[in-house]
Amino acid sequence: MRHLTDVTDLTRQELELLLDTAARLKTERKQRIPSQTLAHRVVALIFEKPSLRTRVSFESAIMQLGGSSMFLPAQEVGFGWRESLADVTRTLNHYVDAVVLRVFKHETVLHMTQVAAIPIINGLSDVAHPCQAIADLLTIREHFGGIKGRTVVFVGDGNNVARSLALGCSLLGARFRLASPPGYGFEATFVQRCQQLGGTIEVQVDPIRAVADADIIYADVWTSMGQESEREQRLKTFAPYQVNARLLAHAPSEARVLHCLPAHRGEEITDEVMDGPQALAFEQAGNRLHVQKAILQFLLN
Ligand code: CP
Ligand code: NVA
Repeated sequence: MRHLTDVTDLTRQELELLLDTAARLKTERKQRIPSQTLAHRVVALIFEKPSLRTRVSFESAIMQLGGSSMFLPAQEVGFGWRESLADVTRTLNHYVDAVVLRVFKHETVLHMTQVAAIPIINGLSDVAHPCQAIADLLTIREHFGGIKGRTVVFVGDGNNVARSLALGCSLLGARFRLASPPGYGFEATFVQRCQQLGGTIEVQVDPIRAVADADIIYADVWTSMGQESEREQRLKTFAPYQVNARLLAHAPSEARVLHCLPAHRGEEITDEVMDGPQALAFEQAGNRLHVQKAILQFLLN
């Protein structure tokens, strides 16, 4: 029995296998080849935060593979306050085949795995977003024909999305560079963790220098869910880190732009970039579906 709390729950080989499976499932969906690999399986989604992509891609993935899903807003479950997380988990062990969690604290995911008899999938916590990172890696692989040796430059906050992608790049041999304001980068211990996986990680302050040899320029919101009280301060601090046409002019013309979405257009990214020829954000969002299928098949079968 396995969980997906972060990308590093997978070995390099397993991550590559997931990408191969997702790519195959994508082709099969285009060809309308039906599949029932999750027949009679039930997956519960417990979410403490809003979601479009993670919820809909998981629910569609499960239904398209013949299973059923159940969306449970955390406040309706009384997750952690009506009864303990452990007791919620001990109960769900008997009813469903897997749980997708979206939570404020990563500890909640880890806590649940301690008593779960079913796979627990992290659908975003404060420190990790592994399902997103795997879809990002699939998008990079599709566009460039491979991941190894590519340079991924994340411009903005060293947040959950940046961290999981840094771990994924480290596993698969892409260089990962974070350009962020002082105090918003990665801690030394996290950088060491990436290096131990074989990764090349760079953290720097200047976004213009950072994108000079980029294959991928990645943007995400400056204020993540749960940080709303810091929004005004962050808007000021991150202003020089906007991904706009001026920044792209300092990058190779072959560079492509990713954004996990939702985008705050006019803040971390401009319309001209989001709607321009270098953006792959909606292809990337589409890839969430195929990756969720690959993750579910891997953990459930
Ligand atoms: N990228 C992503 O996880 O989107 P949602 O918050 O809409 O699920
Ligand atoms: N970093 C963002 C990602 C949203 C998908 C957040 O946590 O809100």
